[in-house]
Amino acid sequence: MINRLARTIPERAHRPTVAGADHPMRKVTQQIAHEPHGWDSARRAKVAELFDGLAPDWNVRFTAEESWPCIDDAFSRGGLDAAGVHRWLEVGAGTGLATGRLAELLHSPAVAVDVSLEMLRRFDVRGGSPVLADAGSLPLIDGALDLIVAVNAFLFPTEYDRVLAPGGALLWINSLAEFTPIHLPVEDVVASLPNTWSAVWSEAGWGLWAVVRRS
Ligand SMILES: C[S@@+](CC[C@H](N)C(=O)[O-])C[C@H]1O[C@@H](n2cnc3c(N)ncnc32)[C@H](O)[C@@H]1O
Repeated sequence: MINRLARTIPERAHRPTVAGADHPMRKVTQQIAHEPHGWDSARRAKVAELFDGLAPDWNVRFTAEESWPCIDDAFSRGGLDAAGVHRWLEVGAGTGLATGRLAELLHSPAVAVDVSLEMLRRFDVRGGSPVLADAGSLPLIDGALDLIVAVNAFLFPTEYDRVLAPGGALLWINSLAEFTPIHLPVEDVVASLPNTWSAVWSEAGWGLWAVVRRS
């Protein structure tokens, strides 16, 4: 079941329309989510190299506040309860633009995973732990997490299903909604995950968010 909530945080003006349906990163995002061999070591190396190159300018081109309306809205209306989240991880955290706000709302320090060393070198969140690791192959046992957060990050359906405990949730955020290069509609996120999942989602500011759980 997918429950779309009416927007309560107004649309922000002048949303950058940096990526459309034909953006190369959109195709990669879809292949990773939908195709069994969409992610391999060659692609991982290429993606890491790309983001290593983007890292020096990342915090100049993007600001922390872009994803915050989505984070705040998801926590107030998405059924996320900080008291029930003891073990959480942000995947594709980059320089940590979203991480500080997540840690604040969850009242616990962040573990932030990324494949790009240059992004992590610029990770700047007090108390947060940046970890060089691949979200497609997490160094975690099955059922290790209560929450995975993916802000403009790839969806690895079988891996997220594996490491989430029963009752665990995925918080999916695209901070420019359908203009985010790494974007999937909520219907695709739910359909890509193994077995049956449900979602509650909405739009906030420039972006969209979804809290996705096993049904
Ligand atoms: C579009 S950036 C988003 C960064 C940050 N979440 C933000 O919104 O500013 C995507 C990030 O995902 C990272 N990434 C790509 N593939 C990954 C993987 N398999 N595992 C972990 N991180 C990955 C990239 O290196 C990059 O830092």
